[in-house]
Amino acid sequence: RRIDWTPMMAEKGGYKHFMHKEIWEQPRAIADTLRGRMLLSEGDVHFDTWNLSTEQVKSFTKITILACGTSWHSGVAGKHMIESLARIPVEVELASEFRYRDPIVEKSHLVIAISQSGETADTLGAFKEAKRLGAHTLAICNVIGSAMTRESDLHILTNAGPEIGVASTKAFTTQLVTLYLLAVKLGRMRGSLSVEAAQEHLTHLAQVPKMIEDVLKCEPQVKRVAREFMNAQDFLFLGRGPMHPVALEGALKLKEISYIHAEGYAGGEMKHGPIALIDEKMPVVIIAPKNPHVAYEKIIGNIEEVRARGGKVIAVLDEDDTQADSLADHVIRIPSACALLAPVVATIPLQLLAYHVAEMRGNDVDQPRNLAKSVTVE
Ligand code: AGP
Repeated sequence: RRIDWTPMMAEKGGYKHFMHKEIWEQPRAIADTLRGRMLLSEGDVHFDTWNLSTEQVKSFTKITILACGTSWHSGVAGKHMIESLARIPVEVELASEFRYRDPIVEKSHLVIAISQSGETADTLGAFKEAKRLGAHTLAICNVIGSAMTRESDLHILTNAGPEIGVASTKAFTTQLVTLYLLAVKLGRMRGSLSVEAAQEHLTHLAQVPKMIEDVLKCEPQVKRVAREFMNAQDFLFLGRGPMHPVALEGALKLKEISYIHAEGYAGGEMKHGPIALIDEKMPVVIIAPKNPHVAYEKIIGNIEEVRARGGKVIAVLDEDDTQADSLADHVIRIPSACALLAPVVATIPLQLLAYHVAEMRGNDVDQPRNLAKSVTVE
């Protein structure tokens, strides 16, 4: 049988778009990010580029994360991870704002740039400024030899492999996993994590590639949701704690490729404004895995508030959670992950939702209008 494949189709590995291929590559990409870095028996993390002494790590008084767009969202999730595991204050800054105010940067600060490309002009500019002001610098990048890896005192690669789709997918989830590894490493070096606690975290991490394989099975359900809401004018995404950046990312992904207006909010903020938008035409995606960091009862309260105003609830729930079932119009099930890793798992259905809505609308998914893969101008 003759197969009419163009070289481009071959590169997409049978998928219609790079973005779809990259979504499905995530179990492998995350496994590549973890490979050789988890020292389970020692309860430690190995980065082959690591050059910080225990003394240096203990001397840091603050971490500042600089990033843009999706990478900024991973920074917000990283704040939860690092503060919780390494007990050091973390500030997450929009790199595009950083240089244009008068930032407080000291020699005792560790400044982390997060960037898929390692070339984003705003992040690079802010990073250089932090270095000039005396901070120690660490770049988390996906591209080896990129400007940020060259500018930094230390770099850690995310190992996601080339990301072609303009909408970032596997770069985001591998950044999350890298930040988790970093949080464990810093926690061990600063003495806030025992060997046993670190081993437990690493055991959770090792399960993530399989969890992503499992969560990808929700695609048919997500497609049904996409079909029902593909013509919506607005979407709201809500999440609390570590799910807040997931809500922001879900909204950004949808905006970028479907051109539907979407907002991501922390659940507790809904009553401070966005609740006014809710009517019977408004789909609200509520990310509500059951774990202590997301104030589960409160996010269920959000679901009830949306329902009371006729809004359409699409709930992302743990596989064994039946409590919220009857409240939601649609339920998307995800495997239960530990609190700080749940963002990695919960992001996948939102990437698929954005992809299928955009695809059903006939948009150019891999090269959405007005966007570039790497923003090298300020
Ligand atoms: C993600 O889907 C976007 N295309 C965009 O927000 C991107 O994350 C941002 O421009 C930062 O890029 P970087 O990670 O290469 O620095």
